Amino acid sequence: MNDHLDSPWNVDERAFPANAPFEAQARFLLRYAILAPSSHNSQPWEFEIRPDAIDVFADESRWLEIADADKRELFLSVGCAIENLRIAAARFGFAASIDYVPGDGDDLAATVHLDPKAETASRARPGLFEAMTDRRTTHHPYDDRPIPGDVLDRLRDCIRETTVTLLVIDEDDRKESIGRLQFRADEHQFDDPAYRAELGHWIGTGALGASWVMARVGRLAVTHLDLGGREGRKNAALLERAPVLAVLVTEADDDESRLKAGRAFERLTLLATSEGIAHHPVSQTLEVPRIRSELAAELGLEESVPQHLFRLGYSDEDEQHTPRRPLEEVVR
Ligand SMILES: Cc1cc2nc3c(=O)[nH]c(=O)nc-3n(C[C@H](O)[C@H](O)[C@H](O)COP(=O)(O)O)c2cc1C
Repeated sequence: MNDHLDSPWNVDERAFPANAPFEAQARFLLRYAILAPSSHNSQPWEFEIRPDAIDVFADESRWLEIADADKRELFLSVGCAIENLRIAAARFGFAASIDYVPGDGDDLAATVHLDPKAETASRARPGLFEAMTDRRTTHHPYDDRPIPGDVLDRLRDCIRETTVTLLVIDEDDRKESIGRLQFRADEHQFDDPAYRAELGHWIGTGALGASWVMARVGRLAVTHLDLGGREGRKNAALLERAPVLAVLVTEADDDESRLKAGRAFERLTLLATSEGIAHHPVSQTLEVPRIRSELAAELGLEESVPQHLFRLGYSDEDEQHTPRRPLEEVVR
């Protein structure tokens, strides 16, 4: 499917309409924005093109009400799309400045102002733009091979947001503690019929990339079987055996912090992709408030909060791209 010419992953930079009006150029940039990752591949974003800017909305009709009760992942996901948009804009010579919109009942999350006169193409970090069509989440276990220190330094350095910090965890005992929290979080969630129904719904839509038959079987299994212990053991082992667990931490716990953490995550995963390193968010410990507090304590956080947890490592296993909603559906 993904080899098909119509696949959103086949966007060709040579097709950028350099001499067309802003609206056509902005539409082209959005083809990169929608390649961003999102929780359950829910793609909870919408865009409106203005004369010199793009408004980015958090689409609450696609919010995971049960798994993501505090909308943390909703705004992280929208932040990922904003970062893709910024990187694509830089590639085609636009300077992007971003205004975050405080949540006040409106679903506008941010406005990305695009200045076409800026000569920013050279300022875009090499490799990030190219990695956008290659990046994907790799769910397989990672090889038992450490990530070199200089690579980790580069990943740390790409976080430019002053209110976002990257914690890198590679000590076995800490990974095991987080694995134990993961086990409890999975058990807790799979005990909840509403959680299972929500997960089953998203599997059923095919958003997670399975074929139709697998999607149906997967959906039935998730909604009817007791999977908590099994999932918990599997996910705990994935975390314990990964060479590195990474956590993005923010000072505040508001929408803007989450949008910024999402941008940082996306930039980091693009850099990781360009360095041949796989990534996999594992969110359950952050989805259960009590366990999120225990995770914060485990990480020694007092004034700041964990926003996003993911594995990093090497894997030669093949992982398919997941589907995307067509652009027409997400541009207002
Ligand atoms: C905020 C956020 C949370 C996520 N949490 C999980 C998770 O807990 N488990 C998982 O397997 N994938 C998780 N993912 C990865 C998504 O499932 C993935 O991005 C989506 O299916 C699209 O696939 P792709 O990343 O390969 O393009 C998360 C992604 C984001 C942005």
